[in-house]
Amino acid sequence: MCGIIAYIGKPDKTLHVLIEGLKRLEYRGYDSAGIAVLGSSGIRIVKSEGKLLNLLSRLEGVSLNGSPGLGHTRWATHGVPSERNAHPHVSGKTVVVHNGIIENYQELKDELRRKGYRFNSDTDTEVIAHLIEDFSLKGFSLEESVREAFKLLEGTYAVAVISEREPNKVVGIRKFLPLILAIGDGEVFLASDIPAVLPFTRNVVLLEDGDIAILEKNRFRITDPEGREVKRDVFSIDWDPITVEKGGYKHFMLKEIHEQPQAVLDTIRGRVFLEEGRVFLKGIEDSWVADVNRIVAVGCGTSYHACLVGRYMIEKLSRIPVDVDLASEFRYREPVVDEKTLVIAVSQSGETADTSYALLEAKRRGAKTLAITNVFGSKIARESDVVVYTHAGPEIGVASTKSFTAQLVVFYLLSLFLGISRNRLTDAYSLQLIKDILALPQLLQHVLRLDSEISALAGEFYKYKNFIYLGRGLNYPIALEGALKLKEVSYIHAEGYAAGEMKHGPIALIDEKMPVVVVAPQDELLYRKLVGNIQEVKTRKGRVILLTSKGSVNEFYGWVDRFVEIPKTPYLISPLISVVPLQLLAYYIASYRGTDIDQPRNLAKVVTVE
Ligand code: M6R
Repeated sequence: MCGIIAYIGKPDKTLHVLIEGLKRLEYRGYDSAGIAVLGSSGIRIVKSEGKLLNLLSRLEGVSLNGSPGLGHTRWATHGVPSERNAHPHVSGKTVVVHNGIIENYQELKDELRRKGYRFNSDTDTEVIAHLIEDFSLKGFSLEESVREAFKLLEGTYAVAVISEREPNKVVGIRKFLPLILAIGDGEVFLASDIPAVLPFTRNVVLLEDGDIAILEKNRFRITDPEGREVKRDVFSIDWDPITVEKGGYKHFMLKEIHEQPQAVLDTIRGRVFLEEGRVFLKGIEDSWVADVNRIVAVGCGTSYHACLVGRYMIEKLSRIPVDVDLASEFRYREPVVDEKTLVIAVSQSGETADTSYALLEAKRRGAKTLAITNVFGSKIARESDVVVYTHAGPEIGVASTKSFTAQLVVFYLLSLFLGISRNRLTDAYSLQLIKDILALPQLLQHVLRLDSEISALAGEFYKYKNFIYLGRGLNYPIALEGALKLKEVSYIHAEGYAAGEMKHGPIALIDEKMPVVVVAPQDELLYRKLVGNIQEVKTRKGRVILLTSKGSVNEFYGWVDRFVEIPKTPYLISPLISVVPLQLLAYYIASYRGTDIDQPRNLAKVVTVE
């Protein structure tokens, strides 16, 4: 994981760029942070264990003029979180920041030690610095040294390097991990992602695997690993830099929960045509899906839960069978897919290693591939045959919220497209489904008004040590998602179950110390059965928090502990609504417990290791 930023340009701006960039990259890891600036008296490095805040207090009152500069925020893999292992890493006149893993670092380290290099950290990164320095000492230029060093390195990486020998250059290289280049006025940047540079420029180049970028303050070149120049397009990014600020909210998570009406609106916009009763998803034609006889959806964490909801939607509307797999398992099962299988890879970041490898495996076996992702030009977007973007805007909080609802919208639209394309739906029904999704942003506005009610509920329940979440049908994955949200931001143990499974084991856990959150919007089939499941919990003295549709509350008075009333919705829309109170519940419980909500311990927003 880790976030990197590099800058070459105006000496009095470098520190500011590095700090602002790191603030926006901190979601990628926060075990330590560091910067390096090349000034008139050489390279100065300041680093610190823990969050960026620690580094900032070290930098207070320090004047660091110079250019170029490097910055890094770390999610530890090799070597414990500590100042010693914090980046940048130095060898002689070479300074390096790195995101990724060098798989053959031990052999290289042994070799370098034999040559007399001393290691000052336990990281794999330090071998990169020593290798580049070693080639430089042999007379290679910085660019050549990077090229030669990387011929020896195995693994995945995005790296930025500066050297006192060539003070007017930054060299960056990427393999498998994200690295973008951005162009300002007399300044050039490298960063792990686009939001890091948004305060300074909108002009961005998405570097490709194997690209080596050579930055000078007024120009840049990109070459392939052999040194041949390659051309890459410059994109103008239309994200508003304000969307990557907290905008008055205490945490990004809360802000992003409240951004859901806009996120779904932006994801629907331009894709449904009410008058024609049609759905348009760029790149997906009737002919492309005509021979698809099976769909496999893969993802991790919250994106996996979106796949589970997607299965219900696709099967219901198109009758195409859908399997769902954890991306981390898919690749190792010798998956049975062929050219008639459509594999859908779902990933907010578009960089998750497990999902990317699953996608590559599906392609290798001849499947058609489709990505659902939130990040333009991300790895998974580039690797798949077709991409449908969620337009949720940048999601900074480590807990996925608005990207999840946007993923569900894409699944809904895709199911509708497939249903229409297969002649499975009457015109009237398709029209109704389109109207239903168009009404969603407003329904979300409604459900968000529960904010203070859920905050009060959290105040009653935040001291419990365990939670169970139950749901059925489309809302079973929502129970899983509710439990995941609670776990990751509040550190409370929580389990999600299909409500019908309770009696097969988990019911043994129920007593008066166990809050059970039941997701039971009133729908055609499953509501009655859920009422039975709630009774089973109450009989065993469990404390039931019931999420149900307006109008059905009366029948529970007197025997359920707490209610949350959500708007009544059509069945396929219900998960998009019922997840919101669960996101809020997790947020407010975490808030009462005083955890680090946007950057929960041990987690990172982008998981680029297997
Ligand atoms: O970027 P991705 O959607 O591929 O990320 C997958 C998971 O790492 C992610 O959903 C994770 O579970 C979130 N922290 C959940 O809130």
